[in-house]
Amino acid sequence: MKLGKFITVEGSEGVGKSTNINHILMRLQQQEIDVVQTREPGGTPLGEEVRELLLDHRHTGMAQDAELMLMFAARAEHIAQVIRPALEAGQWVLCDRFTDASHAYQGAGRGIDSGRISMLEQWVQQGLEPDFTLLLDIEPEVGLERAGKRGALDRFEKEEMSFFHNVREGYLARASAFPERFHIVDAGQPLEQVQQGIDAELAPFIQQYV
Ligand code: TMP
Repeated sequence: MKLGKFITVEGSEGVGKSTNINHILMRLQQQEIDVVQTREPGGTPLGEEVRELLLDHRHTGMAQDAELMLMFAARAEHIAQVIRPALEAGQWVLCDRFTDASHAYQGAGRGIDSGRISMLEQWVQQGLEPDFTLLLDIEPEVGLERAGKRGALDRFEKEEMSFFHNVREGYLARASAFPERFHIVDAGQPLEQVQQGIDAELAPFIQQYV
């Protein structure tokens, strides 16, 4: 059995991940690819409970290392219960955020040393890495305004603007470090152009396997 492919979608708040993940899902299904759609933090019953803890305002001021390790605890469960079994069964996995988010938010955003994050990454992932990462990039001011219109803000969305600038820089630094895996699309454009940009990046990747 051939391993499935692992696609992740990243970006800061209000970047349009959900709409564009649905677009990617549609493109994969058009090619009759069997896809498991999931998200982080979350994707399993345990992971969804951890997500609630992480996003809840009751835990404002949570220790940075606690936040980082909760992200990786949820991820360990997600990999064991969902991601690895799906890939091993030949299914593709389409995941809303993965470890690049830990480097961007806990690393660049909170200031945790990247060596410590990499240590957890190696421990929990045992070499598992995404095959294709879409980074939807947007000015944080534009993204947060969009996120605000969606409803109540979660614990992360309440951070200072400087935090989101650092998150964005963190993502762009990850993209420069892994240029083969990362595909950046300007999410500040009108939706139709964003989706054309996604198609232009995604189609050649899919074509290698269908
Ligand atoms: P979402 O609302 O985009 O699904 O993500 C929830 C929040 O979790 C978002 O603000 C980013 C944050 N996050 C991290 O800080 N580190 C991580 O590793 C992941 C997966 C998400």
